[in-house]
Amino acid sequence: MLKSILICILGATIATKAPEVVVDSRQNASDRFFPGDFLFGASTAAYQIEGAWNLDGKGPNIWDEFTHSHPEKIVDHENADVTTNSYEFYLDDVEAVKNLSMNFYRISIAWSRILPTGDIANINEKGIEYYNKLIDAIINHKLEPMVTMYHYDLPQDLQKLGGLTNSIVISYFEAYANLLYDRFGDRVKYWITFNEPGDFCTAGYGADQHAPAVNAHGVGEYLCGHNVLKAHAVAYRLYRSSYYEQYKGQVGITLSSRFFYSDSNDTHTVDRAMQFSLGWFANPIFSPAGNYPAIMITSIASNSIREGRSWSRLPSFTDKWIETIRGSADFLGLNYYTSRYVEVNPEPKGTNPSYERDINLKFVIKPEWKPSASNWLYSVPKGIGDILRWIKEEYNNPEVFITENGWSDHGELDDDDRIAYLHDHLEQILDVVLSDESNLKGYTVWSIIDNFEWTQGYTEKFGLYSVNMSSPRRERTAKKSANFMATVASTHRIPEIN
Ligand code: BGC
Repeated sequence: MLKSILICILGATIATKAPEVVVDSRQNASDRFFPGDFLFGASTAAYQIEGAWNLDGKGPNIWDEFTHSHPEKIVDHENADVTTNSYEFYLDDVEAVKNLSMNFYRISIAWSRILPTGDIANINEKGIEYYNKLIDAIINHKLEPMVTMYHYDLPQDLQKLGGLTNSIVISYFEAYANLLYDRFGDRVKYWITFNEPGDFCTAGYGADQHAPAVNAHGVGEYLCGHNVLKAHAVAYRLYRSSYYEQYKGQVGITLSSRFFYSDSNDTHTVDRAMQFSLGWFANPIFSPAGNYPAIMITSIASNSIREGRSWSRLPSFTDKWIETIRGSADFLGLNYYTSRYVEVNPEPKGTNPSYERDINLKFVIKPEWKPSASNWLYSVPKGIGDILRWIKEEYNNPEVFITENGWSDHGELDDDDRIAYLHDHLEQILDVVLSDESNLKGYTVWSIIDNFEWTQGYTEKFGLYSVNMSSPRRERTAKKSANFMATVASTHRIPEIN
């Protein structure tokens, strides 16, 4: 059996060739099925796969600027000027998703490809044309497009105004969202406003690890988060008031979080970690009372006072904003990769403000957790089930999509470790679904193809397909894990692995 899977995978070359689906007969007796309406998909993001960074009128974004002016910040000194060139070869990606018998393809739109300066005053029709072709191809392949409006790539001209720390960005984003609904809303039924604000606000504004590398720690990340929550809510309300009646789509947001454990069963500490992580963005949108988690409000305020301020570094919402943001999502998109144990730190010392100082926890990796090629990613399958249960309890059982879950290696076609990771996580998810512990609607693998992994450049691979980066044609080749996911998506069962 194993050998036949291997032959089939190694024989597959480009995306147009469907990997043979092999169902393990040992599963026939099992009645553990994902429900018929459970959706499977795969994900990419514009900057990581499109290339064509300055073609056909696209304007520069903060990642173009960051990789061009600071190549030393990228492990292999690379950038995504061309990357997997999905601007030209997008059909290969769509076919790859289709070959796996999936239901949807999660893509993102590059804001500066359709609004080169970020501003509605200057629409790039060539950019609109590209996304029309891509969305039409997805639909023609009988897949559903799930579209993220913002996946880390702010138009560079908006960064000149302070980017996501300037509240003017709320109006720019609203106009951009309006354009997307207007031009693509007839075909796109799943919208995601922002991907992982906690990550891009801390790494890009609170630190200098990611673009735009502002490093205004302790202040920048919270300003960014505040404006993103408002921009998200405004875009959601706009859809409901002006487009929902006609198009009947859904608008959500994607948040990333680990689940947290405590060796001493200290639920207070686990809750602190969850609230500073998922709660930062989920609480204002999904909790019955709205607003930031109380633990964040009080901790950041008391640290701010200790630092000599008369104001909190965490901005506050007016009642009107709390109202606008509360309930502003039809689903919660969850990106889950890994988990951590947590321990409380002693009282923070000094006056240097930061998110780390505010959260004030020590994160522990267990030696038995299997490491990936990424220094932060260890396989902790139990965490995906526990975080889904936590969401159900905390936010009154909202609709959830896993919008990313995946494993990194160095590009092996025979990627048994990825298969093991996916298998073990899917088993946990299936437990949760079958016991009704989450209102989970679908599961998305990150990613359909190997691509530009931000500061890790091309050194870490997450794809179900590898891409020949030394050939201008960028041929896609199915890995063994593509076959595994095709089996899951087509049979709604999880095949046994050795
Ligand atoms: C991001 C992706 C990224 C993946 C793996 C997610 O946090 O949304 O863009 O490639 O993690 O690091």
